[in-house]
Amino acid sequence: MNNLIDWHLESDAVWQACIELAQRFAADRTLGQDQAKGRSLALLFFNPSLRTRTSMEIAAARLGAHSSVIVPGQGTWGFAWEDGTVMDGGEAEHIHDAAGVLSQYFDAIGVRLFASLTSREADREERHLKRFERAAQVPVVNLESAYYHPCQALADAACITERFDGNPAGKKFVLTWAYHPRALPTAVPNSALLAAARLGMDVTVAAPEGFELDPAVLDMAGSGVSVSRGMDEALDGADVVYAKSWSGSMVYHLPEAEAAARALHSDWRVTADRMRRTRDGAFMHCLPVRRGVVVDDAVLDGPQALHLRQAAYRLFAQQAILSKIWDLPL
Ligand code: CP
Repeated sequence: MNNLIDWHLESDAVWQACIELAQRFAADRTLGQDQAKGRSLALLFFNPSLRTRTSMEIAAARLGAHSSVIVPGQGTWGFAWEDGTVMDGGEAEHIHDAAGVLSQYFDAIGVRLFASLTSREADREERHLKRFERAAQVPVVNLESAYYHPCQALADAACITERFDGNPAGKKFVLTWAYHPRALPTAVPNSALLAAARLGMDVTVAAPEGFELDPAVLDMAGSGVSVSRGMDEALDGADVVYAKSWSGSMVYHLPEAEAAARALHSDWRVTADRMRRTRDGAFMHCLPVRRGVVVDDAVLDGPQALHLRQAAYRLFAQQAILSKIWDLPL
């Protein structure tokens, strides 16, 4: 694996090997210890993070590698992005040069670059991440881009595999939209959908009208995915309830109308009553999550909650990803 942009670009063999490796890291915290000694990892966060940032730092440390977190705009120069731009404005450094320079010091670069939510074409094409990847001369790991969050996806897949003793195929996975006061990107739901489908799960996506995921991503997930317009009926018999908020496609051309439409669905919240419709289903969320808005305390603090184990798997998944990127002999 040279870069990790998204799993749909990787073979089934690599995907499966990474799930198994994440589970080996979950079982043995000394696995791979110091095998990456002398290597270094840059972590470039254009957007906020708690889990991805800290779990990547610890993943690198457990393998013996050094990591540096870089937050553009906080102690760095401002970056220009467009090719051929005349840099006579506020930005002092072009991302092309920054990626080239970081490639001189680091053995891999992780980049977080959220969706613009202003140009669907740019987001769908991963325009910013691809520009960075083109300029970098070392492996690039996607720490959540416009459309995909492969680190989260691997953690989710490995955690679900553990939950079902290695046999998640055929279990009912419900990806349910939930209300949120802000318009959020679709990287996590896209990746969760694709991961569950690739595990062979029986996938349902529940969302109100206007909040469907990009049909191109649904197509990638395959013809077995069911679509529901109601959270209640979708949750019936679920083995996994994966809640996430995301914006409707209107956000790209009519953001105020999207906000107004979203506000009509504040009842899309995962409650203990709703979880009783499941088959003792596990509640998953990538976090951060808004308590009392997306999901009730009774679910997050109750016996069906899996989100903390899911968060723990972020570390194991990223140890697996770094091991593959650096071809460590595990
Ligand atoms: N789930 C996730 O990526 O969390 P952070 O945004 O805190 O990194």
